[in-house]
Amino acid sequence: MTDKQAHLTIDGIENTIDLPIYSSTVGPNVIDVTSITKNGFFTFDPGFMSTAACESKITFIDGDEGILLHRGYPIEQLAVSSDYLETCFLLLNGELPTPAQKQEFVTAIKNNAVVDASVANIIKSFKRESHPMAMLCSAVAALAAVYNDEIDITKEEDRKLTAYRLIAQVPTLAAMVYKHRQDETFIAPDANLGYAENYLNMTFGTAGQAAKVSQIIAKAMDRIFILHADHEQNASTSTVRLSGSSGTNPFAAIAAGISTLWGPAHGGANEAVLNMLEEIGSVENIDKYVAKAKDKNDSFRLMGFGHRVYKNFDPRAKVMKQTCDEVLAELGLENDPLLAIAKRLEQIALEDPYFISKKLYPNVDFYSGIILKAVGIPAEMFTVIFATGRAVGWYAHWDEMVSTAYKIGRPRQLYTGSVKRDYPKK
Ligand code: SDX
Repeated sequence: MTDKQAHLTIDGIENTIDLPIYSSTVGPNVIDVTSITKNGFFTFDPGFMSTAACESKITFIDGDEGILLHRGYPIEQLAVSSDYLETCFLLLNGELPTPAQKQEFVTAIKNNAVVDASVANIIKSFKRESHPMAMLCSAVAALAAVYNDEIDITKEEDRKLTAYRLIAQVPTLAAMVYKHRQDETFIAPDANLGYAENYLNMTFGTAGQAAKVSQIIAKAMDRIFILHADHEQNASTSTVRLSGSSGTNPFAAIAAGISTLWGPAHGGANEAVLNMLEEIGSVENIDKYVAKAKDKNDSFRLMGFGHRVYKNFDPRAKVMKQTCDEVLAELGLENDPLLAIAKRLEQIALEDPYFISKKLYPNVDFYSGIILKAVGIPAEMFTVIFATGRAVGWYAHWDEMVSTAYKIGRPRQLYTGSVKRDYPKK
């Protein structure tokens, strides 16, 4: 709270409406508009372009400066110096773990990685060609069935165990979804492997033959999970908060978040980027596609470009681009044609007045797909990887909400439909 106020005058209303201003630790302060309903008004903000829907201490983004902080730590530093499970602990608890806390957390994740047979059977029940995000969404919702009777969300211990189960089992489910599409046997989690290494082994390993995962690839995968871990009140996280605000099962709320992430305007963009680069096909075709992206009469957009908040470089895209170079060098793919198209496309777009004027920069999805494809992960699995990394962010926001006093989210509307009319007498 600050001692400052906003003063709203409305034509036709005599009194001035005094609105409290609440101060942030960093970033914009907010104006509490709740009292304007007493004067017969709602605020109007389709797409929530200017609305702070909640108070949070987890992640801060400065879109103009291209800054992303998790509990105050810059993403560039976490991506280089931390690992995914340490970042998970930080997001959930607000501080980096001591060595003992880290060990306890890693052990808890390893001890909760096995998926209930009922959920494995649900994955097996899908047609093999089913989209992986549809299968993942159903599988995470099925975890609600497995654990519903054990969860009391008012108890911190139950919420902590649920966090372990979610973070531990989403990669197992992600690998199961991949294996089902490949018509291959599911590979069980291996407690001797690191988080990302275990995911890659469950994905590419076969019965009796562990996957050969280089440390550079495993580190790159772990870094991809870090880069996707959380991003403030994005569409899928806001979905989890709104869904969770009814007091529903946390796995059900997370499943709602997975549904939202799937869309090509959001987490589905990484799959769309790769499809776009393959459609462009060669550096010679780039100008044609850039022209399409600028044509108001053409619905084509440069996937992986632009962002609701970032009007500068997405700091995750910079780290992702560097990781892309490292992985492709490790795999001897420095001359990958898709990378050549991506780099040239980025260069052209960043010099083009249209993209400059609209502040359209590469976002987190622009390079991630090239890395994942190089590692052998098919495009339709890219958003599943995004969801695997983001599961902790969704949960951290849900937990932040339910562990404080909260109300069910219930937006209002500008109604422009029919006024009251009587049913015609027969
Ligand atoms: C993610 O919110 C998050 O934090 C999300 C995320 C996370 O970690 O959770 O960061 C992950 O979702 C990243 C974004 C991935 N999506 C894409 O890459 C899809 C392509 N990008 C766009 O569709 C778009 O940029 C959005 C959806 C990302 C943002 O759209 P906005 O904020 O609603 O902006 P807009 O659609 O109103 O666009 C503003 C202008 C428009 O032109 P005008 O109507 O003003 O003339 O910019 C143009 C748009 O046409 N524009 C693009 C463009 N993105 C915006 N033109 C061409 N190519 C693009 N990619």
